[in-house]
Amino acid sequence: MNRRELLEWVSGGFATAVGTVVGLPGISYFLGGTQRESSGESRFSRLIKVKDLVPGRPMMVPVMGQKVDAWIQSDQQAIGRVWLIRESQSGSAGQTVRALSSICPHMGCQVQAPSGGKSFVCPCHRASFGVDGQRLSDPKTGERNHVPRDLDELECRLVRDDETGDNWVEVRYEKFKTGLDHRVVGA
Ligand code: FES
Repeated sequence: MNRRELLEWVSGGFATAVGTVVGLPGISYFLGGTQRESSGESRFSRLIKVKDLVPGRPMMVPVMGQKVDAWIQSDQQAIGRVWLIRESQSGSAGQTVRALSSICPHMGCQVQAPSGGKSFVCPCHRASFGVDGQRLSDPKTGERNHVPRDLDELECRLVRDDETGDNWVEVRYEKFKTGLDHRVVGA
């Protein structure tokens, strides 16, 4: 190997090494971001004490979690909202809390709970839902509800804090694709 060949070989190896070092953070960001997002969305989030919910009156509660936006990762950001409905006023054994996604399955608007929380209404195309999340016909015209599925119910559990004796509502927050008549996880 003459001097010129040696120089070419050394500079080629250097370029490969630089490319690898520069490329690694991007690859690890891509993989890490995907893993963070999927694990973040499948965990239970602690939302509110059961005693702070009024029986029979839906309450919208934000879900806090990790948000990855381009290159910036921030903790404790609002990643979504859920409607919580406490169904019983009795002791912890009889308490039931239902969690519904606030995202309308039609095109993704936020459903509201006017008229004292007796039903939910989507302001975008005026679709109505019962407090159990089931689609209702238009109360004035009787027209059939055009939304392809009921509001999405989320997994919900009550967890007792042994130190304080408080019962907490925890929800496994997930987003589902809109416009489908069945649930598919994904924004
Ligand atoms: S987005 Fe809710 S009815 Fe269309």
